[in-house]
Amino acid sequence: MTWKRLCDLTTLRRKGVIRVDTDDGEYLVALIGERVYVADAWCTHQKSDLSLGITEGTRIKCPLHQAVFELTDGSVVEGPSGEPPDSIRPLRTYRAKTEGDDVYADL
Ligand code: FES
Repeated sequence: MTWKRLCDLTTLRRKGVIRVDTDDGEYLVALIGERVYVADAWCTHQKSDLSLGITEGTRIKCPLHQAVFELTDGSVVEGPSGEPPDSIRPLRTYRAKTEGDDVYADL
C-alpha cells in the first residue's frame, strides 16, 4: 500500500474529471459530490482516455464506444456499442483520500 499524491483538490473541483500521468501509470481522478474516485485512465476495451468521458452519477461513459463503468468498484455496467457487460474487463480502481488540498490514491 503506497499513498501517492495525484493532484490538488482545487483543480479537481474546477474540472470534475482529470487524467493524471505519473511514473507509475495514468489515472482517472474524478470528484463526484464530495467524494474522490481514482481508476486506471484507459478504457479496458480499446484504451480510450476515460477522462474525456461523461460522468453520470458515479458512472463514467467511455467517449469512444460508450462502455459504462461504475467508479465505486470498476465494474462494467454496459459493454461497448451495446455489447453485454462481460464482454470487457472491469476497470481497476484505487482507494482515494484528501488531506487539505491534496488528493492521494493508494496505488
Ligand atoms: S474504447 Fe471504450 S468502449 Fe471502446
